[in-house]
Amino acid sequence: MSTQVKEQTEVDEEEQVSPGERRREKKRQLQREREQEILDAVDEAEQTVELKIFRFDPEVADKQEPRFDSFTVPFHRGMTVLDALIFARDKYDSSLTFRHSCRQAVCGSDALFINGRQRLACKTQMGELDWPVRVEPLPHQDVVKDLVVDMEHFYDQMHAVEPYFDPDELPDGELEAQTQSPENREKIKLSTRCIWCGACMSSCNIAAGDNKYLGPAAINKAYRFAMDEREGSDKKADRLRIIEQEHGVWRCQTQFSCTEVCPKDIPLTEHIQELKREAVKSNLKFW
Ligand code: SF4
Ligand code: FES
Repeated sequence: MSTQVKEQTEVDEEEQVSPGERRREKKRQLQREREQEILDAVDEAEQTVELKIFRFDPEVADKQEPRFDSFTVPFHRGMTVLDALIFARDKYDSSLTFRHSCRQAVCGSDALFINGRQRLACKTQMGELDWPVRVEPLPHQDVVKDLVVDMEHFYDQMHAVEPYFDPDELPDGELEAQTQSPENREKIKLSTRCIWCGACMSSCNIAAGDNKYLGPAAINKAYRFAMDEREGSDKKADRLRIIEQEHGVWRCQTQFSCTEVCPKDIPLTEHIQELKREAVKSNLKFW
């Protein structure tokens, strides 16, 4: 057969393959390449670590039953749990779902239950954990999919303490700064660090049993404003009324679980106790 005839035959055969089959073959090829990449990465790694990840997807028929999937991930020094999760998602299963953004303990989106404790995945070193590493969504929250929980209730509680200033008097000049003393700034400094991750709320037994409890993060937010000397006195009185309601500060049983898990080291239990004292003082009457 001449070369020209042979080439024509190949072109004819190619044309007989449907576009759908060509797409599927391309996908299979990519899948093969990806699997090879994983094998190479795992082979080259000096050490590998096993991740056991909670899986659940209410929208897919065979994933509605909660389960754990295992992934073998190449370990390297400095690797965080978030790095390992990203490897598992990018290399093994693109449907693995979790939140993350800043990767530097600022956005608060990747609080997870890692080896039985609330932690930020981006701030937790794989090398400091017992292996295999077990990763679950935050307890006491509804799971949306895999490691993603519904944060709506947590945000509602944060907003319930009205986290904004309402000063008694506005400054005269439009651009006049409302100053704060260095001592007062120091007092509220730690309370301003909150990144709304929800780890504290998830660790709290009281919040688990009382869905209306404001919770440590919201009470800390109230503390941040109530203890700020720029807070208006009417607003402070309102705020204290909010936090001393039935599901407010008095629910706290000083178990310190919130303080222990807070990734920003905010002394939440202390702040709650201080607000309890403020609430008592605001109700004292001297005749
Ligand atoms: S107080 Fe701490 S644990 Fe709670 S939401 Fe804020 S940063 Fe997260
Ligand atoms: S990714 Fe932003 S806090 Fe971890």
